[in-house]
Amino acid sequence: MNYRVPRTRKEIFETLIKGLQRLEYRGYDSAGVAIDGNNHEVKERHIQLVKKKGKVKALDEELYKQDSMDLKVEFETHFGIAHTRWATHGVPNAVNSHPQRSDKGNEFVVIHNGIITNYKDLRKFLESKGYEFESETDTETIAKLIKYVFDNRETEDITFSTLVERVIQQLEGAFALVFKSIHYPGEAVATRRGSPLLIGVRSKYKLSTEQIPILYRTCNIENVKNICKTRMKRLDSSTCLHAVGDKAVEFFFASDASAIIEHTNRVIFLEDDDIAAVADGKLSIHRVKRSASDDPSRAIQTLQMELQQIMKGNFSAFMQKEIFEQPESVFNTMRGRVNFETNTVLLGGLKDHLKEIRRCRRLIVIGCGTSYHAAVATRQVLEELTELPVMVELASDFLDRNTPVFRDDVCFFISQSGETADTLLALRYCKDRRALTVGVTNTVGSSISRETDCGVHINAGPEIGVASTKAYTSQFISLVMFGLMMSEDRISLQSRRQEIIRGLRSLPELIKEVLSLDEKIHDLALELYTQRSLLVMGRGYNYATCLEGALKIKEITYMHSEGILAGELKHGPLALVDKQMPVIMVIMKDPCFAKCQNALQQVTARQGRPIILCSKDDTESSKFAYKTIELPHTVDCLQGILSVIPLQLLSFHLAVLRGYDVDFPRNLAKSVTVE
Ligand code: G6P
Repeated sequence: MNYRVPRTRKEIFETLIKGLQRLEYRGYDSAGVAIDGNNHEVKERHIQLVKKKGKVKALDEELYKQDSMDLKVEFETHFGIAHTRWATHGVPNAVNSHPQRSDKGNEFVVIHNGIITNYKDLRKFLESKGYEFESETDTETIAKLIKYVFDNRETEDITFSTLVERVIQQLEGAFALVFKSIHYPGEAVATRRGSPLLIGVRSKYKLSTEQIPILYRTCNIENVKNICKTRMKRLDSSTCLHAVGDKAVEFFFASDASAIIEHTNRVIFLEDDDIAAVADGKLSIHRVKRSASDDPSRAIQTLQMELQQIMKGNFSAFMQKEIFEQPESVFNTMRGRVNFETNTVLLGGLKDHLKEIRRCRRLIVIGCGTSYHAAVATRQVLEELTELPVMVELASDFLDRNTPVFRDDVCFFISQSGETADTLLALRYCKDRRALTVGVTNTVGSSISRETDCGVHINAGPEIGVASTKAYTSQFISLVMFGLMMSEDRISLQSRRQEIIRGLRSLPELIKEVLSLDEKIHDLALELYTQRSLLVMGRGYNYATCLEGALKIKEITYMHSEGILAGELKHGPLALVDKQMPVIMVIMKDPCFAKCQNALQQVTARQGRPIILCSKDDTESSKFAYKTIELPHTVDCLQGILSVIPLQLLSFHLAVLRGYDVDFPRNLAKSVTVE
């Protein structure tokens, strides 16, 4: 918004739709936009809403079908909002999709990520005041609530951001919100609590500031009615961001930088309860309450992300591209951190806390989905290298159990997005108990990376495919690097450390070798894709491979798949084995080899026909295999990085053969910012 060169409606559409498409991987059952109607120049403005069930493409087509939309009409300043929805309350359909509106006249419209937990009470209250609801969403309550606040305002000159401020004081739960209103043409107000939100800033000209000071109300707001009477520190040019002189600056609000990276890499990350307003081409940020720990300003940061990093290139799906990127992503995770000459590892984000970590009582590693599997995969090597007890936890279960946490615990939070609600809540839970918190994320500026005491950025590059692949291998390596850093002074561990560091060095080449098996894995997929079930078995260092492989298969192929600990085979899963049931076994030359042979015997004795992922030189296992996929050998604790890749590839080929959209599996979202 705020152009000097006028923008046509078509250009505005294109910007919004492109942004949505870049975010579509996060959730995508419906989409919608709100823009100014044709009569934007006249005093009586109106907002046009277009919403559609399905993918963003369907919305895009719908926009051009709207007869009343003059695509050539030009705007000097325009503020449009758009959203893709992943249903939490209410089925996916056009009415439930966002923007949600205050009334049939679209006086206020809002888009929302997150969940409002007290929406039922608010809805009941608003219904009692005569507001009629049309959707089943929690978000509609916000649109109605802002109209209620507006309808009951005490002064005519109430600002848009004051209305929003009053609204969010009534909201419980998680949200990132952007509002538009016919009463405040060309203005935008955005706010967040618990869900991510950033502002992109584009200007060819010098900006008035690189640090936007936060404005606070001059008096405490005890009750909502008093708000209009309080005054915010006066807005002047030093409290706003704008381009110097009479120059244009454009602002973009987005939940994720990938939506706006093609316009700008200069962004401001909002904090919980920040209220950001753009009016008259100027951005200001305010907060209601000041707390001692508050940063007095928000800085503009430059992101090192490029558009081509998030483009598919020659691959048919982001997931496929990301699988094939692993030789580089793994290298980037280690770059500048592992010194192969001196056998040392330095993680800059942890070095100041190392002493404290070494003194801790135990390590607790927490995550969800694939990130949790990275914790399972590295537990043994962390126990070995740190000589500390290591607990691995699913964030949701960790919270359900009210797990005891102490101030001498060190808690790791593993998250690709850095925004997963369960993991974030677990982080806050541990912070409240004064444990040291460490983030392991792939997203600079994410909530988890900002709220933890220290951390490691895994540097895998943007991951778009909903099914996580390269983030897993990079998380794996980050945790191994942490173990190596912890054990630097342990004389008894030196030869083991050297062995692991040598293993790390050769990983990118070995990954390339595994990727060259793609065609063979495709052939295997041709045999398996009509099956209903697929079991994946292993133990020790490769148990996590089985969990992660099975997760990939169920996520994108919708086949039933289970990762089975081979040690548990005889305690139940063996009953599933017969000559029809496809079984994949991961058997590597490691300390569990002999025990895996037992499991293999148990499977073949039940006429099972195992497909075995094994080491190249393993003649023993291959004798009993229906098929083998032979993998290069590496040090035992890193083998899981190589053994997971065939399963990533297999799930990809199975999904394609079954005719599914690999990057957009049904019912799943990349970043789950709701509990
Ligand atoms: C969702 C995604 C998974 C991911 C999990 C944790 O369920 O679909 O692919 O592993 O969230 O996400 P995080 O961003 O915290 O790693």
